[in-house]
Amino acid sequence: MAKLFEPFTIRSKTSRNRIWIAPMCQYSCENKDGMASQWHVVHLGSRALGGAGLVMCEATAIRPDGRISPWDTGIWNDEQAKAWQQTTKFIKEAGALAAIQLAHAGRKASHYREWSGSGAVTEADGGWQPVSSTSEEFPEYNTPRELTTAEIKELVDQWAQAAKRSVDAGFDVIEIHAAHGYLIHQFLSPITNQRTDEYGGSKGNRARFLLEIVEGIREEIGEKIPLSVRFSATDYREDGFTVADCAEVAKWCEEVGADLFDISSGGLVLGVNIPFGPGYQVPMADEIAEGVSSPVAAVGLITTGVQAEEILQSTHIEIIMIARASLRDPYWPLRAAFDLDVELDYWPHQYTRGKFKK
Ligand SMILES: Cc1cc2nc3c(=O)[nH]c(=O)nc-3n(C[C@H](O)[C@H](O)[C@H](O)COP(=O)(O)O)c2cc1C
Repeated sequence: MAKLFEPFTIRSKTSRNRIWIAPMCQYSCENKDGMASQWHVVHLGSRALGGAGLVMCEATAIRPDGRISPWDTGIWNDEQAKAWQQTTKFIKEAGALAAIQLAHAGRKASHYREWSGSGAVTEADGGWQPVSSTSEEFPEYNTPRELTTAEIKELVDQWAQAAKRSVDAGFDVIEIHAAHGYLIHQFLSPITNQRTDEYGGSKGNRARFLLEIVEGIREEIGEKIPLSVRFSATDYREDGFTVADCAEVAKWCEEVGADLFDISSGGLVLGVNIPFGPGYQVPMADEIAEGVSSPVAAVGLITTGVQAEEILQSTHIEIIMIARASLRDPYWPLRAAFDLDVELDYWPHQYTRGKFKK
């Protein structure tokens, strides 16, 4: 049996295989109210039917000013949590675990979605002033306002409340978005954090915001729900957050209640060289996996079942996350099983003929 199709258990949850659909923003809340819709049921549900072990819903804002665009999903109120129930129910009935990525975009908030405009949404057009660790803007975004220490503490609680609502909405797994230059990453990196309060300065201080969020969420969700953290393991700049920093911060996260690390990279600053290529983030994920005792997921240009299996066989990585390849093919896991000659007992009955080669 290919390792890719071996079940994976974490806390009280078992994923039927090691193929997880990575979070992908859909910018599809047409009423700009953060409410998940039929789009989310069908888009995410089809990937669950496609055989994934876990389907992770997009970066979902923990409060309104944390949305990347006005069309993002949210979970800052109970109505939004209720709207997610249709999606989680479908995903679970299709045999996958349902996960949500909780997010705050920080200074990268209030931007147009690609097909509605470009650059920052002005306040006149329903946009807002972002908040951040810094008052320095990201190119083509609105200038942020630096958060006060008291506001940071309030945000920690809002994160924890969003996690509690996520459990009520039926999510099995929660992920904290600490990557891609969004709010938590803005705190983690010395490039965007020159604060002089307890949330800036040393690495420990820069990680404090994330660690308090992990701790706060764990307190709210109890012992059964797995908690993942997505990191950008490098800013691709010598003066930025590095793989070694990431390994250290991940260890601290483990100590306060995180269970799993999902390793991505970049997104904090422009003008860096990212060595895109097949599995380009795998070596970083493997390095983090060696340094922590929790399982680690790899993501980024992993496109075939054979490649995914090879990664699991040759590294310390336990989970493979698939994003764009699953946009081309929602049935990517079924295709991988077909290619690797794996017999699945959860191949949908309606699609049985699809598993025969002749
Ligand atoms: C349409 C789209 C939306 C994305 N939205 C998110 C997101 O909400 N949260 C996140 O952490 N990454 C997001 N990503 C990044 C993916 O999760 C993934 O890390 C990246 O695409 C690399 O994996 P891939 O090569 O399999 O696509 C998005 C990617 C795409 C293509």
